[in-house]
Amino acid sequence: MAGTILGILGSPLPEGNTAKLLEAALKGAADAGCTTETVILANLDFQPCMEMMFCKEHDTCIMDDDMQQLYAKVRSADSVIIATPVMTMGIPGKLKSFMDRCQVFFMAKYVRKTPLIEPAQKKNRKGLFICISGMKIPDVFVGAKLTARAFFDIIDCPYTDELLISDMDTIMDITTRKDLLSSAYEKGRAMGKRFNP
Ligand SMILES: Cc1cc2nc3c(=O)[nH]c(=O)nc-3n(C[C@H](O)[C@H](O)[C@H](O)COP(=O)(O)O)c2cc1C
Repeated sequence: MAGTILGILGSPLPEGNTAKLLEAALKGAADAGCTTETVILANLDFQPCMEMMFCKEHDTCIMDDDMQQLYAKVRSADSVIIATPVMTMGIPGKLKSFMDRCQVFFMAKYVRKTPLIEPAQKKNRKGLFICISGMKIPDVFVGAKLTARAFFDIIDCPYTDELLISDMDTIMDITTRKDLLSSAYEKGRAMGKRFNP
C-alpha cells in the first residue's frame, strides 16, 4: 500500500460523533490503498508545553512522555487528518497541548531553518481538518480553524481540505446522517487517491 495517513482524534470520546467521522475518513483513505493509523490523544499521557526551549537546539522535546512516540508518527506520515469537536469556541485542551508540543517542528522549521520534513515528502503532504460543533452560530469554527491552519503549517502539512459540521446538538447522532459520514469518507478517499492514482 502506498501512503500512510495519520488520523488524530481530539475528542475525549473514542466512540463519539467526531470519532465516527474520523473512522469514515480513514476508511476512505484505506479503500484508496493507503495505510492508516489512528491516534486517540485521550488515551495518551503527556503534559502541555512548559517552554523549556530544549527544542530550540534539538530535534525533539526534553519532556519524556507519550509525545515522544507521536513526533515520529507526525514526521513520517504522508498526510494528516485532525478530527475534533469545538470546545469553548476553540479546540479541546489536550489537542491544543499536542499541537503546542509540536513546537519541536516550529523551531526546526522557522528558527533553525532545517525543517524536520524533507522537501520531497513535504511536496505531497496534505492536511484535512474535520470539526464539529454543538451549536449553529456565526464564527463557531473560526478559532478552531485558525489553530488548525497554524498547526498544519508548522508540521509542513498544508491545510488543504475541511469538513465542518455545526448543529450537532440537533443532529445528536451522526449515524443518522449518512450524507455527512459519506462526505468524510469521500474526503479521506480523495486524500488517499493522491498516493494511489
Ligand atoms: C467542554 C465543552 C465545550 C464545548 N464548547 C462548544 C462551543 O463553544 N461551541 C459549540 O458550538 N459547541 C460546543 N461544545 C459542543 C461540542 O462541540 C459537541 O457536543 C460535539 O458534538 C462533541 O463531539 P464528540 O461527541 O465527538 O466529542 C462543547 C462541548 C463541551 C463538552
